[in-house]
Amino acid sequence: VDEVGRDEMPGDSRGERRPSKVAIVGAGAVGSTLAYACLLRGAAREVVLHDLNKTKVEAEALDIAHGIQFTPMGSVRGSDDVAICAGADVVVITAGARQKPGQSRLDLAGATIDIMRTLVPQLVDVAPGAVYIMVANPVDVVTYAGLKISGLPEGQFFGSGTVLDSSRLRYLIARQCGVAVQSVHAYIAGEHGDSELPLWSSAMIGAVPLLQWGPTSDGSLLDEGVRASIASEVKNSAYRIIEGKGATNYAVGLAVVRIIEAVLRDEHRVLSVSSLLDDYLGISDVCMSVPTVVGHDGVGRRLVPVVTETERYGLARSAESIRAVAKQFGF
Ligand code: LAC
Repeated sequence: VDEVGRDEMPGDSRGERRPSKVAIVGAGAVGSTLAYACLLRGAAREVVLHDLNKTKVEAEALDIAHGIQFTPMGSVRGSDDVAICAGADVVVITAGARQKPGQSRLDLAGATIDIMRTLVPQLVDVAPGAVYIMVANPVDVVTYAGLKISGLPEGQFFGSGTVLDSSRLRYLIARQCGVAVQSVHAYIAGEHGDSELPLWSSAMIGAVPLLQWGPTSDGSLLDEGVRASIASEVKNSAYRIIEGKGATNYAVGLAVVRIIEAVLRDEHRVLSVSSLLDDYLGISDVCMSVPTVVGHDGVGRRLVPVVTETERYGLARSAESIRAVAKQFGF
């Protein structure tokens, strides 16, 4: 074998460590963007795309493959055969019904759950040891259904939840306050959808509690009215983008790559992913987003910040909204 120029993974010449593999199911706008973002960030050495539409999935993979000279070392393949997902370390499920302008995410539940009833057992069959990240909407309901269908341990199967919403919230706070978005620590919790809520009372900007920030870049204070306006803009972001371009894909792709990196690098990073809760502030038997430690085995400790009575009520209301839809479809 020509060793010159071979990009060796540490240990792989002794066969000790297999390169990481991410399988992305669904080659639509989100799945394809996610595959592209994975390679661009060098999140995984091998990325595979699976979709029932053979022509589409092969074309998406080929279009990305033509650019891998310009990315960190990696490979990408696409197939309509689920076997391409075999042995993946992480499986991301983006395949599901697509939100139309004006449609709520919860409206997609029936169609997406029907897809999961067939798809999830096929995936677990070829990748039983993978960490599963559900992205398809309504992600909280579908994560709960997928977890039950999969029969996997609850930490191994979770959803992207409000990681994207928290990113939108941080973007708006950073813009309003004139600071780097990386210095804003704030979470959207609850449903990835209309009943989501910002956890304002635990939000921080640098070492300063957000509620004590003082005048922002336009001189206004982050009072209840400004905060309500920010929360509304976060909640309605997807509707606005879907109205304008038909789908969202870039930010959700970047948000999910972040989750994938936390798993593959065992980062123990705190992310607001959607997972099965058990007596979280009295909330149980529902998949919902709260600040959670994410690492190699998937979901770990759920963090319980100090919450106000309003926030506690909002979380309970959001859980009820998710649970009501899950029950409609037998979960
Ligand atoms: C959004 C989709 C991913 O919020 O639900 O953009």
